[in-house]
Amino acid sequence: MTLPILVLRLVVGILAFPMYLLNLLGVWNWICKRCFPYFLLRFTVIYNEQMASKKKELFSNLQEFAGPSGKLSLLEVGCGTGANFKFYPPGCRVTCVDPNPNFEKFLFKSVSENRQLQFERFVVAAGENMHQVADGSMDAVVCTLVLCSVENQGKILREVCRVLRPRSMSSDEWSAAEDEGQLSRLRRKSRDSPFVPVGVAGFVAVLSYGLYKLKSRREEKMSLRLIHVRVAAQGCAVGAVTLGVLYSMYKDYIRPRFFSVPRK
Ligand SMILES: C[S@@+](CC[C@H](N)C(=O)[O-])C[C@H]1O[C@@H](n2cnc3c(N)ncnc32)[C@H](O)[C@@H]1O
Repeated sequence: MTLPILVLRLVVGILAFPMYLLNLLGVWNWICKRCFPYFLLRFTVIYNEQMASKKKELFSNLQEFAGPSGKLSLLEVGCGTGANFKFYPPGCRVTCVDPNPNFEKFLFKSVSENRQLQFERFVVAAGENMHQVADGSMDAVVCTLVLCSVENQGKILREVCRVLRPRSMSSDEWSAAEDEGQLSRLRRKSRDSPFVPVGVAGFVAVLSYGLYKLKSRREEKMSLRLIHVRVAAQGCAVGAVTLGVLYSMYKDYIRPRFFSVPRK
């Protein structure tokens, strides 16, 4: 067992050696920053194809956040090549922040392909410190595929709060976001994942029935009967959860691919 591991470690070491060397010489980071935009450009084409419907849905209400002027000021943190530009509403004023200056060329190309936007500026900075962007100057902030790989998510989120324009919420929004009672939250969650309450109900029903029938078990041992009841109840819950997972997979991956679902 140890020999194959040693051999594998040696192979990985040999393959990774050029990277270690370049890192030691201080050029690896520079190479990554240069090459990453080219890679991301290719990745974006495939990713946007797969995610088009989700992104459309996600960005569909952006215009509702526009300020009193009616124009939406939007900040994109970690903009990359501008993959989200085509999903922004017409007339949207876009400011971009990214620590990698090599994205500028790609960003301008994306701007020229998305004439509906009003591009403001590209700020070379990390999201953790965007002091170039004024307090309360943005109506919306977009950040996709970024927070998973940054150094300090908390700092970025604090910066996002700082640059966002303070906004009062309408009573409708309050009732949806804040005043949702326990019962309605439970109802909404049950609607989203109906198999969870079905599983819980099945578990309780099987368990209750098993316990109710405990007296009529004749010569069967009590411990054995209890094990049977527990296995049946657990089987019911696991079955419901499995059905739920299969249904989610169908809903999220199979249905959108093979059947055109009308958008709400
Ligand atoms: C995977 S790309 C995503 C690009 C784009 N948001 C998208 O959805 O296609 C991650 C981007 O985050 C940027 N980035 C990395 N660290 C960052 C940080 N600390 N603050 C802001 N952006 C960062 C990278 O330069 C890169 O452009």
